[in-house]
Amino acid sequence: VFRSSGLITLPSILLIGPSGSGKTSLLTLFERGTKAAATHISQTPIAVECSLPVGSVANSDRYRSENDPTNQAHKKFLLVDTPGHGKLRHHALENITNPQNLKGLIFLVDAATLSAGDEGLRQTADYLHDVLLLLQKRATGSKAAKALKEIPVLIAANKMDLFTALPAALVKSSLEAEISKVRTSRSKGLLDSGIGMGDAEDEKDDWLGEMGSINFKFSQMEEFDVSVEVVGGNVAGGEGPTVDKWWKWISERL
Ligand code: GTP
Ligand code: MG
Repeated sequence: VFRSSGLITLPSILLIGPSGSGKTSLLTLFERGTKAAATHISQTPIAVECSLPVGSVANSDRYRSENDPTNQAHKKFLLVDTPGHGKLRHHALENITNPQNLKGLIFLVDAATLSAGDEGLRQTADYLHDVLLLLQKRATGSKAAKALKEIPVLIAANKMDLFTALPAALVKSSLEAEISKVRTSRSKGLLDSGIGMGDAEDEKDDWLGEMGSINFKFSQMEEFDVSVEVVGGNVAGGEGPTVDKWWKWISERL
């Protein structure tokens, strides 16, 4: 992505997640402030400059006096939207392996497609597994990726306005259970292909979270300095957007 030199120093928040979860809608809402615009399926990443809404203070500014002019100029950051389509995910993954002042990652999911047996649940878990594994393995990545010490991940459970949406606690447990399955089938796949044969180290590298555990839990990522939180909201629908808790999460990372 080309970025002008003025933007390159801004802290950035990366938006990723499966197609249709509402990433571009969220970007237009955050950029405009009141209402999300109509969107089409994204084919390329886009980065826009956003400002924290009036009243929220960035973590790095919390000790400044109220009269400090830096506080009045609202904290700006770059929000980077990526296409969720399976064939275009390299854009999102490149932003992780080659981060530009990355402060956090929002993995947006459609909470109405995560019921047991739903194809959406499998696809979402699959993508999230790969993203978390990449974060776990960042120590072996590029210099920039190595420099990322702690990575906060917000799993934003979107579309809570729909009656079929799972509440955040269930989004969390469903994803954990489904990622456990992904993890097991990936390690079997490695064994079957012979890639993992006789090389315990390789196998260990491709196993997400705690070795030897049967059930994956997001808390297992803490050992790799990746913190994961699941918070519900909605970008569109209902009686208007409910994104306050996501804004708060962002402000605490800036
Ligand atoms: P890709 O670009 O393909 O990766 O998808 P995306 O994640 O950018 O999804 P997009 O923002 O284009 O939204 C997909 C659809 O979901 C649109 O029709 C949105 O109007 C709708 N949508 C987004 N957020 C919400 C929400 O909170 N509630 C409801 N009901 N619909 C939503
Ligand atoms: Mg999009």
